[in-house]
Amino acid sequence: MTTTAPAPTGQAAHTATTAAYRLIPGTTLDDQVLTTRFGELRLKGLTPGVLAALGALTEGDLTEASTSALVVAGDGETGLLRWQMLRSRLDAMGLFEHAVYAEAEAGAETPHGPLLARLAPVGRGSTALKPAPSGPARLTRHALIRPGADGLVLQASGSPLSVQLTAPAAAFLVRLGAWTDEVPAPVLRLLATAGALAAGGPEHDVEAVSRGSVQWNPVDLAFHLRTRVPASAPGYGGTYRYADRFEPLPVAVPPGEGARVPLPVPDLEARAAQEPPLARVLEERTSVREHDDDNPLTLAQLAELLYRTVRIRSIFAGSDGQELADRPVPAGGSLHELDVYPLVSHVEGLEPGLYRYASDRHELELVAPAGPLTAPLVKEIRDASMMSADPQAALLVAARFGRVMWKYETVAYPLILKHVGVLYQSFYLVGTAMGLAVCGLGGGDTTAFAAATGHDPLAEGTVGEFVVGSRPQSPTV
Ligand SMILES: Cc1cc2nc3c(=O)[nH]c(=O)nc-3n(C[C@H](O)[C@H](O)[C@H](O)COP(=O)(O)O)c2cc1C
Repeated sequence: MTTTAPAPTGQAAHTATTAAYRLIPGTTLDDQVLTTRFGELRLKGLTPGVLAALGALTEGDLTEASTSALVVAGDGETGLLRWQMLRSRLDAMGLFEHAVYAEAEAGAETPHGPLLARLAPVGRGSTALKPAPSGPARLTRHALIRPGADGLVLQASGSPLSVQLTAPAAAFLVRLGAWTDEVPAPVLRLLATAGALAAGGPEHDVEAVSRGSVQWNPVDLAFHLRTRVPASAPGYGGTYRYADRFEPLPVAVPPGEGARVPLPVPDLEARAAQEPPLARVLEERTSVREHDDDNPLTLAQLAELLYRTVRIRSIFAGSDGQELADRPVPAGGSLHELDVYPLVSHVEGLEPGLYRYASDRHELELVAPAGPLTAPLVKEIRDASMMSADPQAALLVAARFGRVMWKYETVAYPLILKHVGVLYQSFYLVGTAMGLAVCGLGGGDTTAFAAATGHDPLAEGTVGEFVVGSRPQSPTV
């Protein structure tokens, strides 16, 4: 099919286009069974013409005219209706890629000019083409663009389809940053099908007024929908996509160079007999942003809080070969990627500095003594908690991302954030039961942590911060 579109300003070439389509790459046809990356599809009673068309579509792009010619050659004109029904079915299952080419130059031997754009399934969703908008079009502000093998790849958040745009189509992409009617309709059809065009028009810009659209930062929305609409992205659950490139990380970090501080083990039986019941702990839980510096938190209290929440109770092997652990706090897949780094300013029996809690050995390891490396961290915690003095201690929660990302793909980072929530509440409850002042924090700067620890922030970075200290008699809450 060849269509003529208005010439984009300064882009006189490629005003006429040719549409074509193919089965998704890697598809094979064998004895009436279509095997795609999504699985096998058994097709019954395929006629010679339909078999020829399907076979050709596993090889590459064809125009509708070429496909129809193959069907007619094998089955006669009457085969066309059956073919169109099958074609619609395969499109609805998301098994096609649709391409738009520039029209062939006059006298050229090729059936079409260079590729302009290609619609391809990324996740699972229909590839049946939607109409191009009748008026001006603009890209949705929730479309993300990244480099691809041949040009740029554009995907709207939550859409299972992406559109590849090649260099000759770059001008269209730029133009679509604002409302325009200077993009060929076949290219717009691909973008509309991929959900990449903004709703409304210049007079009624839905994205500019709808609360749901305005309030979302595009990157946050992409993260949210990628993880909460599993059909929009491949890789839900454990996919082990890099398991053949990297060894799994141990559940417990081996001892480092820093000075080691053994910690007392609390008597949990005695605690169970003395402490208020859970119902009361939950009712009394509150955030306290004031510490009693005349009677500071003690090393034994800090040790107890860590022991009762994040110590490793046992280590065992997962069926996938990754080391797993059991802790008082739960973790998805028993992966336990979180480690706690106590940032100490005023704790009785412990020098100020940044420590790492070795949860398998129940001891602290000094990472950095108090000084220029820890000062920015302390300031950040003090500012976030709006405290008038340095907090006695803060528990910096760091994730060793590779433990989760070795196994999981789209759910990996959300899982880490959920684990932070689980840990916060455990700190809140145990801290309350112990009569401590506790307060979770909502933000932090992983750069200062990277500087203090020397860790690659992509390998291990902070994902949470929690303030702890001794509780004044009558705290202001
Ligand atoms: C995830 C999370 C993030 C928080 N972030 C902060 C923070 O950055 N600064 C702060 O002073 N309090 C923070 N808090 C404490 C809340 O402000 C507090 O829980 C809320 O005001 C209710 O008070 P309550 O904890 O006494 O019930 C946070 C609490 C949670 C659970």
